[in-house]
Amino acid sequence: MLSIIVAIGARNEIGQQGTMPWHLPGDLKHFKQLTLNKTILMGRRTFESLPGVLPKREHIIVTNDLSFQYDHPRVKVCHNLEQELHKAQKTEEELFVIGGGQIYNQALPMAQRLYLTLVHQTFPEADTFFPAIAFEEWQETERSPEIKENGIGYEFVNYQRIASLKENT
Ligand SMILES: NC(=O)c1ccc[n+]([C@@H]2O[C@H](COP(=O)([O-])OP(=O)(O)OC[C@H]3O[C@@H](n4cnc5c(N)ncnc54)[C@H](OP(=O)(O)O)[C@@H]3O)[C@@H](O)[C@H]2O)c1
Repeated sequence: MLSIIVAIGARNEIGQQGTMPWHLPGDLKHFKQLTLNKTILMGRRTFESLPGVLPKREHIIVTNDLSFQYDHPRVKVCHNLEQELHKAQKTEEELFVIGGGQIYNQALPMAQRLYLTLVHQTFPEADTFFPAIAFEEWQETERSPEIKENGIGYEFVNYQRIASLKENT
């Protein structure tokens, strides 16, 4: 199962100068709850924006740099993103693509589930964006009530790709 988890602003903003455009502890908690004990896949830049290897998660870091190494038992370095995504599509275990912009762009057409945090605000300084979502291809499966934090409203919305719903019926 290939899943994407992302927090996006009202104009699909996701990043600003190598970090997130907002600070929403509730969203970080949600991210942790969903990804704990799972495998997370990310671009090399997103990995470098993290405080380090996240506890209780297997990491796949995607890079074109063949000399990139990261010596940790829960870190695997990947040079073939497409192969990794195809493999995840066919396995029962859920793989979470956690960003950033470059990786989301390549993974969205193949993703089977979307876990969106919709941040109800625009961020004019943002420099990294999530690709446009063709919502007609997705069925909403869950929506939280609106949460307010640091003066910012947001909600969690989950989707399943309609084709994969059909395959299951
Ligand atoms: N809002 C959110 O939920 C969220 C989530 C994650 C990240 N972000 C934000 O997104 C921003 C980072 O995104 P980004 O687009 O700049 O970078 P990114 O997608 O995290 O990483 C880009 C890097 O991934 C590698 N890469 C990309 N495609 C590849 C492929 N097909 N094969 C092999 N390697 C590949 C390359 O690494 P090399 O250069 O090493 O070759 C490339 O430089 C940050 O601001 C971060 O905070 C936001």
